[in-house]
Amino acid sequence: MAVERTLAIIKPDAVKRGLTGDILSRIHAAKFQIVAIKSVQLSRTEAEGFYAVHRERPFFGELVEFMSSGKSVPMVLEAEGAIAKWRETMGATDPAKAASGTIRKELGTSIQFNCTHGSDAPQTAAFEISYFFAGSELS
Ligand code: CMP
Repeated sequence: MAVERTLAIIKPDAVKRGLTGDILSRIHAAKFQIVAIKSVQLSRTEAEGFYAVHRERPFFGELVEFMSSGKSVPMVLEAEGAIAKWRETMGATDPAKAASGTIRKELGTSIQFNCTHGSDAPQTAAFEISYFFAGSELS
Protein backbone atom coordinates (compact mmCIF):
# COMPACT_ATOMS: atom_id res chain seq x y z
CA MET A 1 0.00 0.00 0.00
CA ALA A 2 1.27 3.48 -0.87
CA VAL A 3 2.28 6.08 1.69
CA GLU A 4 -0.31 8.88 1.59
CA ARG A 5 -1.07 12.15 3.32
CA THR A 6 -4.46 13.26 4.58
CA LEU A 7 -5.86 16.36 6.26
CA ALA A 8 -7.23 15.83 9.76
CA ILE A 9 -8.90 18.48 11.90
CA ILE A 10 -9.60 18.40 15.61
CA LYS A 11 -12.81 20.46 15.53
CA PRO A 12 -13.86 23.28 17.88
CA ASP A 13 -16.15 21.02 19.99
CA ALA A 14 -13.21 18.74 20.88
CA VAL A 15 -10.76 21.63 21.45
CA LYS A 16 -13.26 23.38 23.79
CA ARG A 17 -13.79 20.16 25.74
CA GLY A 18 -10.03 19.69 26.30
CA LEU A 19 -9.81 16.60 24.08
CA THR A 20 -6.87 17.68 21.89
CA GLY A 21 -4.32 15.63 23.86
CA ASP A 22 -6.54 12.55 23.93
CA ILE A 23 -7.06 12.70 20.15
CA LEU A 24 -3.34 13.27 19.47
CA SER A 25 -2.55 10.20 21.63
CA ARG A 26 -4.92 8.12 19.50
CA ILE A 27 -3.20 9.44 16.34
CA HIS A 28 0.20 8.38 17.71
CA ALA A 29 -1.14 5.00 18.88
CA ALA A 30 -2.47 4.37 15.35
CA LYS A 31 1.09 5.02 14.02
CA PHE A 32 0.47 8.12 11.92
CA GLN A 33 3.31 10.59 11.40
CA ILE A 34 2.22 14.19 12.04
CA VAL A 35 3.86 16.05 9.14
CA ALA A 36 2.49 19.50 10.11
CA ILE A 37 0.08 20.86 12.73
CA LYS A 38 -1.29 24.25 13.77
CA SER A 39 -3.98 25.91 15.86
CA VAL A 40 -6.36 28.24 13.98
CA GLN A 41 -9.71 29.96 14.30
CA LEU A 42 -11.40 29.91 10.91
CA SER A 43 -13.34 32.97 9.76
CA ARG A 44 -16.84 32.30 8.41
CA THR A 45 -15.49 32.87 4.88
CA GLU A 46 -12.66 30.38 5.42
CA ALA A 47 -15.07 27.76 6.82
CA GLU A 48 -17.41 28.32 3.83
CA GLY A 49 -14.50 27.81 1.45
CA PHE A 50 -13.27 24.69 3.17
CA TYR A 51 -16.73 23.07 3.12
CA ALA A 52 -17.83 24.53 -0.26
CA VAL A 53 -18.67 21.02 -1.51
CA HIS A 54 -21.50 20.95 1.09
CA ARG A 55 -22.91 24.42 0.32
CA GLU A 56 -26.26 23.14 -0.96
CA ARG A 57 -26.82 20.92 2.10
CA PRO A 58 -29.42 21.99 4.67
CA PHE A 59 -26.83 21.87 7.47
CA PHE A 60 -24.28 24.11 5.68
CA GLY A 61 -25.07 27.26 7.70
CA GLU A 62 -24.80 25.46 11.05
CA LEU A 63 -21.62 23.72 9.94
CA VAL A 64 -19.96 27.03 9.00
CA GLU A 65 -21.14 28.62 12.27
CA PHE A 66 -19.74 25.71 14.28
CA MET A 67 -16.41 25.45 12.47
CA SER A 68 -15.77 29.18 12.92
CA SER A 69 -16.93 29.21 16.58
CA GLY A 70 -13.53 28.54 18.17
CA LYS A 71 -10.03 27.19 17.71
CA SER A 72 -9.49 24.03 15.71
CA VAL A 73 -6.34 22.00 15.08
CA PRO A 74 -5.70 21.05 11.44
CA MET A 75 -2.84 18.67 10.74
CA VAL A 76 -1.36 16.60 7.94
CA LEU A 77 -1.12 12.89 8.75
CA GLU A 78 1.09 10.47 6.86
CA ALA A 79 0.86 6.66 6.80
CA GLU A 80 0.35 3.81 4.39
CA GLY A 81 -3.21 4.28 3.15
CA ALA A 82 -3.58 7.33 5.41
CA ILE A 83 -6.90 8.53 3.94
CA ALA A 84 -8.84 5.32 4.67
CA LYS A 85 -6.86 4.60 7.84
CA TRP A 86 -7.74 7.99 9.38
CA ARG A 87 -11.41 7.57 8.42
CA GLU A 88 -11.37 4.17 10.17
CA THR A 89 -9.70 5.69 13.23
CA MET A 90 -12.37 8.43 13.37
CA GLY A 91 -15.37 6.16 12.73
CA ALA A 92 -18.62 7.03 10.92
CA THR A 93 -19.70 10.68 10.63
CA ASP A 94 -22.60 10.11 13.04
CA PRO A 95 -21.13 9.05 16.43
CA ALA A 96 -24.27 6.96 17.07
CA LYS A 97 -23.38 4.83 14.02
CA ALA A 98 -19.59 4.71 14.57
CA ALA A 99 -17.83 1.45 15.46
CA SER A 100 -16.75 0.93 19.05
CA GLY A 101 -13.25 2.12 19.87
CA THR A 102 -13.34 4.91 17.26
CA ILE A 103 -12.81 8.59 18.13
CA ARG A 104 -16.29 9.67 17.10
CA LYS A 105 -17.96 6.79 18.99
CA GLU A 106 -16.03 7.45 22.18
CA LEU A 107 -15.84 11.26 22.09
CA GLY A 108 -18.40 12.62 19.59
CA THR A 109 -21.77 13.90 20.81
CA SER A 110 -23.76 14.38 17.55
CA ILE A 111 -23.42 14.28 13.77
CA GLN A 112 -22.39 17.95 13.89
CA PHE A 113 -20.25 17.80 17.03
CA ASN A 114 -18.24 14.80 15.86
CA CYS A 115 -14.82 16.00 17.08
CA THR A 116 -12.73 15.34 13.97
CA HIS A 117 -12.65 15.71 10.20
CA GLY A 118 -10.77 13.69 7.59
CA SER A 119 -10.35 13.94 3.83
CA ASP A 120 -12.37 11.40 1.85
CA ALA A 121 -10.26 10.91 -1.32
CA PRO A 122 -6.82 11.77 -2.75
CA GLN A 123 -8.02 14.88 -4.63
CA THR A 124 -9.90 16.13 -1.59
CA ALA A 125 -6.83 15.54 0.57
CA ALA A 126 -4.66 17.59 -1.82
CA PHE A 127 -7.17 20.48 -1.77
CA GLU A 128 -7.71 20.33 2.01
CA ILE A 129 -3.98 20.12 2.84
CA SER A 130 -3.27 23.13 0.63
CA TYR A 131 -6.15 25.02 2.30
CA PHE A 132 -4.25 25.07 5.60
CA PHE A 133 -0.57 24.49 4.81
CA ALA A 134 1.98 26.06 2.46
CA GLY A 135 4.33 23.75 0.58
CA SER A 136 7.21 25.02 2.76
CA GLU A 137 5.44 23.61 5.87
CA LEU A 138 5.18 20.13 4.39
CA SER A 139 8.75 18.94 3.78
P1 CMP B 1 -17.01 16.20 8.33
O1 CMP B 1 -16.35 14.89 8.18
O2 CMP B 1 -16.22 17.35 8.81
O3 CMP B 1 -17.67 16.60 6.93
C1 CMP B 1 -18.81 17.43 6.83
C2 CMP B 1 -19.45 17.69 8.16
O4 CMP B 1 -20.79 18.10 8.10
C3 CMP B 1 -19.51 16.39 8.95
O5 CMP B 1 -18.24 16.01 9.36
C4 CMP B 1 -20.47 16.76 10.05
O6 CMP B 1 -19.85 17.44 11.12
C5 CMP B 1 -21.39 17.72 9.32
N1 CMP B 1 -22.67 17.06 9.01
C6 CMP B 1 -22.87 16.03 8.17
N2 CMP B 1 -24.19 15.70 8.16
C7 CMP B 1 -24.80 16.55 9.01
C8 CMP B 1 -26.15 16.72 9.43
N3 CMP B 1 -27.11 15.94 8.95
N4 CMP B 1 -26.42 17.69 10.31
C9 CMP B 1 -25.43 18.50 10.77
N5 CMP B 1 -24.13 18.39 10.42
C10 CMP B 1 -23.82 17.42 9.55
